Amino acid sequence: MHELSLHILDLVQNSLEAGAQTIWLGIVEDAEADKLTIRITDDGKGMDEATVSRATDPFVTGRTTRKVGLGLPLIQMTATQCGGHLSIASKPGQGTTVEAVYQLSHWDRPPLGNVADTIKTIIVANPGITFYYLHRVGHKAFFVSTQELKEILGDIPFSHPEVLAWLDNYLKENTANLYGGVQP
Ligand SMILES: Nc1ncnc2c1ncn2[C@@H]1O[C@H](COP(=O)(O)OP(=O)(O)O)[C@@H](O)[C@H]1O
Ligand SMILES: [Mg+2]
Repeated sequence: MHELSLHILDLVQNSLEAGAQTIWLGIVEDAEADKLTIRITDDGKGMDEATVSRATDPFVTGRTTRKVGLGLPLIQMTATQCGGHLSIASKPGQGTTVEAVYQLSHWDRPPLGNVADTIKTIIVANPGITFYYLHRVGHKAFFVSTQELKEILGDIPFSHPEVLAWLDNYLKENTANLYGGVQP
């Protein structure tokens, strides 16, 4: 069983490998439309059309050995099997948007998993990038950016033990609130 959070980490890793300085992550759970959308936009090096069309080919990779998970091809397969799709929009020199859509209620849809921990990992592991995170569940939304966190923290790094504990709690609480205060 794989969780969508692992796909999110994969997508963020792709953006980082593309040299992104800024990454926007959006997760939208829309029960009315019965859709779950994960969208990542970066300002990395982008891809030309040929690379975009090859990107979901399981035999195409930027590395010589595939890591477990198969990156975009696996995300596309899972999304398609769950009544959704994967789409990529990219411009060389400008950046990339990858969108994975799933039927929210689909029996086979993997759970999101621990999004709060995933976001924390992304933020703490990449203090140099600007990261925006918007998570919407129905009419509730949670937004956080490393920009606002840095304004609050000043010179204190994300990896400071007390900051870590605070961030952990902040992300967990706000994510849980999206689901009516109950952890999904
Ligand atoms: N955000 C991105 N920006 C630029 N290129 C990307 C991005 N995401 C994926 N790619 C391109 O698509 C290829 C396939 O990605 P992926 O399936 O995750 O495999 P891998 O990362 O293991 O190469 C990458 O090697 C890269 O060339
Ligand atoms: Mg990858």
